[in-house]
Amino acid sequence: MGARILDGKALSKQVRAELAVRVDALKARGVTPGLAVILAGDDPASAVYVRHKERAAAALGVEAFTVRMGEDADAAAVQAEIDRLNADPAVHGILVQLPLPAGVSADETAALLTSVDPDKDVDGFHPVNLGRLVAGLDGFVACTPSGCMRLIAEAGVDPAGKRAVVIGRSVIVGKPMALLLLQANATVTICHSRTTDLAARVREADIVVAAVGRERMVKADWVKPGAVVIDVGMNRDAAGKLCGDVDTAAVAEVAGALTPVPGGVGPMTIAGLMTNVVRAAERRISNAAGLR
Ligand code: GUN
Repeated sequence: MGARILDGKALSKQVRAELAVRVDALKARGVTPGLAVILAGDDPASAVYVRHKERAAAALGVEAFTVRMGEDADAAAVQAEIDRLNADPAVHGILVQLPLPAGVSADETAALLTSVDPDKDVDGFHPVNLGRLVAGLDGFVACTPSGCMRLIAEAGVDPAGKRAVVIGRSVIVGKPMALLLLQANATVTICHSRTTDLAARVREADIVVAAVGRERMVKADWVKPGAVVIDVGMNRDAAGKLCGDVDTAAVAEVAGALTPVPGGVGPMTIAGLMTNVVRAAERRISNAAGLR
């Protein structure tokens, strides 16, 4: 058991303590950061995630407004709520919890996410913010990838000049993760379901980010000795036990540093969200003062 275990819970506490100072400064100027969450449908995992977000907001002094909608909510109903929240000055950040109910198609979901005001897009899912990330401009970055970057820094590894492999190419995690690593001057490979000889690609990496949603897929003999392994997976195994995309017990014998599941990336995603909400409120003040 050689790997250092990267404690996302402790690190997120540190981030939230830093944010608390900024929230106090905002409140001293009469601004309470506000986060609106749209939770539509009855996905049990989404209900748990939203509860965690509400709790983190409350602990920080961020006001959370959760809009709960039934499984029968359609795209028009969700759109009406987004329009209302876009116009509400007490709301600095808007998050549409995914997945939306089955009656909302993938195209409709994409259109809904695109209708969120980019300056309130604390999830970083809007094409404008994704474009800013591609262009290297300031914008909101998706919370899980930014949390992963902070964990890599915590491992004491500077990505510059390192080989990084991201497994998974989702818009929410894989693609922004790869762009952040590239911005930090890593040499980045994105692997996915059509990648040939995935194990060999992963074995080349100094930094591995696994975001595929397959329980314990990354095996010890895929990992270069000393590598930093970030596990974004959140799966239940056949016994109902929570586990990641990495075979943690075995990989810990080889890796230099490793995130646990739970207690690794999850808390850092919430810290990333809170960071974006505080930034959204700060930016509103700067924009109003013409400091953009
Ligand atoms: N569903 C699963 N993860 C996320 C997330 O990070 N943001 C949103 N909005 N929905 C999710």
